[in-house]
Amino acid sequence: MMLYSMLIIAYLLGSLSFAIIVSKCMKLEDPRSYGSQNAGATNVMRSGNKKAAIFTLLGDLIKGLLVVVVARFITHGIDGGDAIVGLCGVMAVIGHIYPIFFKFKGGKGVATAIGVMLGLNPYLAMLLVVTWIIVFKLSRVSSLSAIIATLMSPLYAYILMGNSSYFGATTIVAFFVVYKHKDNIIRLIKGTEGSFKQKKPSED
Ligand code: G3P
Repeated sequence: MMLYSMLIIAYLLGSLSFAIIVSKCMKLEDPRSYGSQNAGATNVMRSGNKKAAIFTLLGDLIKGLLVVVVARFITHGIDGGDAIVGLCGVMAVIGHIYPIFFKFKGGKGVATAIGVMLGLNPYLAMLLVVTWIIVFKLSRVSSLSAIIATLMSPLYAYILMGNSSYFGATTIVAFFVVYKHKDNIIRLIKGTEGSFKQKKPSED
């Protein structure tokens, strides 16, 4: 019973899409109506409002972190605690991608995944962010940086912790995040993926 409650709460918290909430609070256009139409920090950045993009990034990241930190606290010393923590992290990312409060149309889960990994192991999050930065420096493409960094995370988790629960959780998170980038992947293959430039909705 406690496990189900934790998973539901993790999903509900993940469902708080800060791109939509911040944009509403700052009286900006809904991010689902412009650019890539994605409810995420990269697309909010395309509105030209850096502050809103930073608040979005932080909000989405902190909710993932919070879910894992609280789950770790609750399951401390419990058998199978790591698996529960990992599952809660997965549910937070799923909530972000398919939010119940926003017709199941959320973001791509990158910032929330970073928050989750920060809660699992700060070095894991650090490696993820460093990978993102390196790929971004080379390509200037946010989606490519996110895809490569996320794909690397199970390997990083395995090397850092050798923990099968966290390896499993990061693999599932990577699956959802990469799946949500399917349109970006098609554009990357076609060579039409933009950076922070305004994209036409029809491109997505
Ligand atoms: O974090 C989202 C990013 O990887 C891609 O966003 O808006 O360019 O599709 P976007």
